[in-house]
Amino acid sequence: MKILFLNGPNLNLLGQREPDLYGRKSLAEIETEVRKRAVSMGSTVEFKQTNLEGELVNWIQEAKGKFDVVVLNAAAYTHTSVALRDAISAVGMPTIEIHLSNVHARESFRKKSLIAPVCVGQIAGFGANSYILALEAAVNINDKTRSR
Ligand code: DQA
Repeated sequence: MKILFLNGPNLNLLGQREPDLYGRKSLAEIETEVRKRAVSMGSTVEFKQTNLEGELVNWIQEAKGKFDVVVLNAAAYTHTSVALRDAISAVGMPTIEIHLSNVHARESFRKKSLIAPVCVGQIAGFGANSYILALEAAVNINDKTRSR
Protein backbone atom coordinates (compact mmCIF):
# COMPACT_ATOMS: atom_id res chain seq x y z
CA MET A 1 0.00 0.00 0.00
CA LYS A 2 1.41 3.39 -1.02
CA ILE A 3 0.04 6.38 0.80
CA LEU A 4 0.60 10.02 -0.08
CA PHE A 5 0.36 12.54 2.77
CA LEU A 6 -0.28 16.06 1.49
CA ASN A 7 -0.04 19.07 3.78
CA GLY A 8 -1.29 22.56 2.99
CA PRO A 9 -0.51 26.11 4.04
CA ASN A 10 1.25 26.97 7.29
CA LEU A 11 1.76 23.34 8.26
CA ASN A 12 5.49 23.92 7.65
CA LEU A 13 5.28 26.00 10.86
CA LEU A 14 4.01 23.14 13.03
CA GLY A 15 5.80 23.04 16.35
CA GLN A 16 6.09 26.84 16.56
CA ARG A 17 2.64 27.74 15.30
CA GLU A 18 -0.09 28.10 17.98
CA PRO A 19 1.18 25.04 19.92
CA ASP A 20 -1.88 25.02 22.18
CA LEU A 21 -3.98 24.27 19.10
CA TYR A 22 -1.60 22.26 16.94
CA GLY A 23 0.89 20.74 19.39
CA ARG A 24 4.66 21.00 19.72
CA LYS A 25 5.76 18.50 17.09
CA SER A 26 7.13 19.71 13.77
CA LEU A 27 5.82 18.26 10.52
CA ALA A 28 9.17 16.46 10.13
CA GLU A 29 8.71 14.80 13.54
CA ILE A 30 5.18 13.74 12.64
CA GLU A 31 6.50 12.35 9.35
CA THR A 32 9.15 10.32 11.19
CA GLU A 33 6.49 8.76 13.45
CA VAL A 34 4.22 7.99 10.50
CA ARG A 35 7.11 6.46 8.53
CA LYS A 36 8.07 4.20 11.45
CA ARG A 37 4.51 2.99 11.82
CA ALA A 38 4.11 2.52 8.06
CA VAL A 39 7.19 0.28 7.93
CA SER A 40 5.73 -1.89 10.68
CA MET A 41 2.55 -2.17 8.61
CA GLY A 42 4.38 -2.98 5.39
CA SER A 43 3.32 0.19 3.61
CA THR A 44 5.23 3.08 2.11
CA VAL A 45 4.46 6.74 2.61
CA GLU A 46 5.44 9.98 0.97
CA PHE A 47 5.04 13.34 2.70
CA LYS A 48 4.74 16.72 0.96
CA GLN A 49 3.91 20.23 2.13
CA THR A 50 3.16 23.40 0.21
CA ASN A 51 1.65 26.78 0.90
CA LEU A 52 0.26 26.92 -2.66
CA GLU A 53 -3.24 25.74 -3.57
CA GLY A 54 -2.35 24.92 -7.20
CA GLU A 55 0.55 22.76 -6.10
CA LEU A 56 -1.83 20.64 -4.01
CA VAL A 57 -4.08 20.33 -7.06
CA ASN A 58 -1.10 19.19 -9.17
CA TRP A 59 -0.01 16.62 -6.58
CA ILE A 60 -3.54 15.18 -6.31
CA GLN A 61 -3.67 14.85 -10.11
CA GLU A 62 -0.23 13.21 -10.21
CA ALA A 63 -1.10 10.73 -7.43
CA LYS A 64 -3.26 8.65 -9.78
CA GLY A 65 -1.54 5.38 -10.62
CA LYS A 66 1.35 6.05 -8.21
CA PHE A 67 -0.43 5.85 -4.84
CA ASP A 68 -3.33 3.88 -3.42
CA VAL A 69 -4.64 6.49 -0.99
CA VAL A 70 -4.17 10.23 -0.42
CA VAL A 71 -4.25 11.61 3.13
CA LEU A 72 -4.89 15.34 2.91
CA ASN A 73 -4.52 18.03 5.54
CA ALA A 74 -5.57 20.88 3.28
CA ALA A 75 -5.34 23.29 6.27
CA ALA A 76 -7.14 26.58 5.49
CA TYR A 77 -7.89 25.48 1.90
CA THR A 78 -10.24 22.89 3.41
CA HIS A 79 -12.70 25.68 4.03
CA THR A 80 -12.29 27.61 0.77
CA SER A 81 -11.04 25.52 -2.13
CA VAL A 82 -13.43 24.44 -4.87
CA ALA A 83 -10.31 23.61 -6.93
CA LEU A 84 -9.15 21.01 -4.40
CA ARG A 85 -12.58 19.49 -4.16
CA ASP A 86 -12.80 19.27 -7.96
CA ALA A 87 -9.31 17.71 -8.17
CA ILE A 88 -10.21 14.97 -5.66
CA SER A 89 -13.46 14.33 -7.47
CA ALA A 90 -11.87 14.36 -10.96
CA VAL A 91 -9.03 12.02 -10.05
CA GLY A 92 -11.23 9.62 -8.09
CA MET A 93 -8.46 8.61 -5.68
CA PRO A 94 -9.64 7.54 -2.22
CA THR A 95 -8.80 10.56 -0.08
CA ILE A 96 -8.89 10.89 3.70
CA GLU A 97 -9.33 14.40 5.13
CA ILE A 98 -7.38 15.07 8.31
CA HIS A 99 -6.85 17.87 10.81
CA LEU A 100 -4.80 18.12 13.96
CA SER A 101 -7.40 20.27 15.69
CA ASN A 102 -11.10 19.57 16.09
CA VAL A 103 -12.33 21.95 13.40
CA HIS A 104 -15.93 21.44 14.55
CA ALA A 105 -15.16 22.87 17.99
CA ARG A 106 -13.58 26.07 16.64
CA GLU A 107 -14.71 29.14 14.68
CA SER A 108 -17.84 28.59 12.59
CA PHE A 109 -15.96 29.08 9.28
CA ARG A 110 -13.89 25.97 10.10
CA LYS A 111 -16.97 23.79 10.47
CA LYS A 112 -17.51 23.86 6.72
CA SER A 113 -15.26 21.59 4.67
CA LEU A 114 -15.58 21.87 0.90
CA ILE A 115 -13.59 18.65 0.48
CA ALA A 116 -15.47 16.44 2.99
CA PRO A 117 -18.20 15.35 0.53
CA VAL A 118 -15.61 13.95 -1.90
CA CYS A 119 -13.43 12.30 0.76
CA VAL A 120 -13.85 8.78 2.14
CA GLY A 121 -13.92 10.20 5.67
CA GLN A 122 -12.53 12.77 8.05
CA ILE A 123 -10.21 12.48 11.07
CA ALA A 124 -9.92 15.60 13.22
CA GLY A 125 -8.97 16.59 16.74
CA PHE A 126 -6.29 14.08 17.73
CA GLY A 127 -3.25 16.30 17.26
CA ALA A 128 -0.29 14.56 15.64
CA ASN A 129 -2.06 11.27 16.28
CA SER A 130 -4.59 12.23 13.56
CA TYR A 131 -1.80 11.32 11.11
CA ILE A 132 -1.28 7.86 12.66
CA LEU A 133 -5.05 7.27 12.70
CA ALA A 134 -5.20 8.29 9.04
CA LEU A 135 -2.41 5.84 8.22
CA GLU A 136 -4.40 3.05 9.91
CA ALA A 137 -7.53 4.11 8.03
CA ALA A 138 -5.63 4.21 4.73
CA VAL A 139 -4.03 0.80 5.21
CA ASN A 140 -7.38 -0.73 6.10
CA ILE A 141 -9.37 0.92 3.37
CA ASN A 142 -11.23 -1.86 1.61
CA ASP A 143 -12.06 -2.29 -2.04
CA LYS A 144 -15.64 -1.24 -1.54
CA THR A 145 -14.58 2.05 0.03
CA ARG A 146 -11.95 2.54 -2.69
CA SER A 147 -14.43 2.36 -5.53
CA ARG A 148 -16.74 4.95 -3.97
C1 DQA B 1 -6.00 22.50 10.33
C2 DQA B 1 -7.33 23.20 10.64
C3 DQA B 1 -7.58 24.33 9.65
O1 DQA B 1 -8.80 24.99 9.99
C4 DQA B 1 -6.47 25.36 9.74
O2 DQA B 1 -6.66 26.37 8.78
C5 DQA B 1 -5.12 24.76 9.64
C6 DQA B 1 -4.85 23.48 10.30
C7 DQA B 1 -5.67 21.41 11.37
O3 DQA B 1 -4.85 20.54 11.05
O4 DQA B 1 -6.19 21.43 12.49
O5 DQA B 1 -4.21 25.36 9.10
O6 DQA B 1 -6.12 21.85 9.07
